[in-house]
Amino acid sequence: MSDSNRSAQPPGWEPRITAFFCNWCTYTASDLAGVSRMAYAPNTRVIRVMCSGRIDPQFVLAALRAGADGVLIGGCHPGDCHYQEGNYKCLRRFTMLRRYLSEMGIDPQRLRLEWIAASEGDKVQRVTNEMVEQIRKLGPLKLAPLPQAQGCQRAVAERAAAEV
Ligand code: FES
Repeated sequence: MSDSNRSAQPPGWEPRITAFFCNWCTYTASDLAGVSRMAYAPNTRVIRVMCSGRIDPQFVLAALRAGADGVLIGGCHPGDCHYQEGNYKCLRRFTMLRRYLSEMGIDPQRLRLEWIAASEGDKVQRVTNEMVEQIRKLGPLKLAPLPQAQGCQRAVAERAAAEV
């Protein structure tokens, strides 16, 4: 799918990826990758969550709205979630979110979900590098401000003007 929210690639542009990693598996694996000196692209900002089931779809949308060009989610393998079914909940949300992104004109390939166990530092390395290259091909994501946010900004500006 092409994405209608893509902007021209400025010179020197580097993909920005927000990664939500489960504390018990993927975050530990990314730590392992670091300790084992497995070099991977530095384009990812990792946010640690206690379980992939904790990732509200709004977190993903907020990351994209705040300037991320892609979002990577890492959770425990099916059957290994420390909270029983958090990763199944994550999978359902992921499927729904990809459809939603597509309807918003955003290429769903900007969102990726991977099951990565604590011992799979090499998988963190591979998946991160692949994601960076994928986003590089798609180009920067440029989203317009939310109408709601514009209304809010206008209200703040009007209130500030009234107080002067
Ligand atoms: S604890 Fe890792 S996905 Fe639930």
